[in-house]
Amino acid sequence: MIDLHCHFLPGIDDGAQTLADGLALAQAAVADGITYSVMTPHIHPGRYENTRSTIEKAFKDFRLALRKARVALHVGMAAEVRLSPDIVALLSQNEVPFLGELDGHRIILLEFPHTQITPGADKLIERLLQHNIRPLIAHPERNQDVMRDLSKIEPFIEMGCFLQITAGALLGDFGRAPQRRALQLLEFDVFKVLASDAHNLTGRRPALREGMEAAARVVGAQAAHDLVNRNPRMILRGAVAAVA
Ligand SMILES: [Fe+2]
Repeated sequence: MIDLHCHFLPGIDDGAQTLADGLALAQAAVADGITYSVMTPHIHPGRYENTRSTIEKAFKDFRLALRKARVALHVGMAAEVRLSPDIVALLSQNEVPFLGELDGHRIILLEFPHTQITPGADKLIERLLQHNIRPLIAHPERNQDVMRDLSKIEPFIEMGCFLQITAGALLGDFGRAPQRRALQLLEFDVFKVLASDAHNLTGRRPALREGMEAAARVVGAQAAHDLVNRNPRMILRGAVAAVA
């Protein structure tokens, strides 16, 4: 299985705090059957001041540590980018790492604030799309606007955004409302992936298998498998070759 969203890189956001934490997360991912994980630390101006440069350094150190510890996990690098006007400047400085590329668009893992879909989000996303950058929207099931009204996500799907549903949300790890929304979003006709968004070994684990099984009860075994294999692989195709 391939995980496009996790926070294993130590000490640069609210995920792993130490190298030992990061290695333990990677080992847990392998134990779950994950073969490839993309490190996606937060880029959240004002909170986590990461850029492609800072993430790249942490990523190279971590990849080396994985090899030394003989952890059999392939890793890639991107970021979970908070939707804000600062994205424009970061993009112009080439400081936003992308997940990969699909159909001529670079794919950005884009996070809305949890409390709402920011007014103007549609305009910013239109601008990204005009520059051949397509958002993969991180965990829409946990956005409070979407929890109140599922149809709030529809304009973004119509624009061409992809969706990343979190495996743990399907299992109720974030409560009943996000679980219900995650299950409903599975049935939307849109390109989507399942990811762990792992931060730690307690509440937010690096696991996809149980989530895939929960998804299979809704969309069937083949479609559920696609969410953790074929679909993320399509996004990574270029990136995997570069990292291998
Ligand atoms: Fe995340």
